[in-house]
Amino acid sequence: MKRDKKYIVGNWKMNQETKEIQKFFEGLKHNENCHQWIAPQYIHIPQTLTLKQSFEGISIGAQNCSYDTKGAYTGEVSSNSLKEIGVDFVLIGHSERRSLFNESNETLNQKTKQALESGLTVIFCIGESLEQRESGETNNVLKTQILEGLKEIQSDNLLIAYEPVWAIGTGKTATPQLAQEAHEFIREVCAKEAKLDSNSLPILYGGSVKPSNAESLLSCKDIDGALVGGASLKAEDFNALSTIANDCKNP
Ligand code: PGA
Repeated sequence: MKRDKKYIVGNWKMNQETKEIQKFFEGLKHNENCHQWIAPQYIHIPQTLTLKQSFEGISIGAQNCSYDTKGAYTGEVSSNSLKEIGVDFVLIGHSERRSLFNESNETLNQKTKQALESGLTVIFCIGESLEQRESGETNNVLKTQILEGLKEIQSDNLLIAYEPVWAIGTGKTATPQLAQEAHEFIREVCAKEAKLDSNSLPILYGGSVKPSNAESLLSCKDIDGALVGGASLKAEDFNALSTIANDCKNP
């Protein structure tokens, strides 16, 4: 992937109904100096794919996909089918998937391989819990999530999102310094141990990002964008984040 411009990625989670999505697109301002990406619920992907036709440049993603492409997996969604209808990217390993749906690094590795093989771009999410941070385990946790989750993966269609679990949906944001340190560490592990081309690997920060704190985070040298939950639901906030990302674009 490119680190040419910052990324603003909206993770809508299990929010947004049809009318709200329509309103979002009516208010959305295209910003060509940042990457604007949105991940709605599966069922709303076709609606957003239709609406995006008047927004050159916006990418649509899924929040999850199966580790296999076909077969007896009731309730699952195949990465091949996502690709076929025009989906660009998928989030893999969000902390809510890890904790609420027991997704292990091994499963996430399978999902990532499958999604990449289907031609989707993957945003691979990692992050430590409060308990892990307080007991000094952050770096070990991040390293394990990278080395196990991205095992045997070499791809240009990959981004990483660092989301400290204690900052997601809590209103508590990591300080820019703490986030920058984690991003630098992640970039180093990716280069030295996972053998990824770390210079061209976008690493996004996630966890209570909003217009009032985005500038200080996005100005950090290893923070290439933001994965945003709550503040991505309204066009007004998404536009404000995109404008800030534009002003902080990578050198
Ligand atoms: P938040 O969610 O911005 O609401 O904290 C971020 C995420 O879970 O991706």
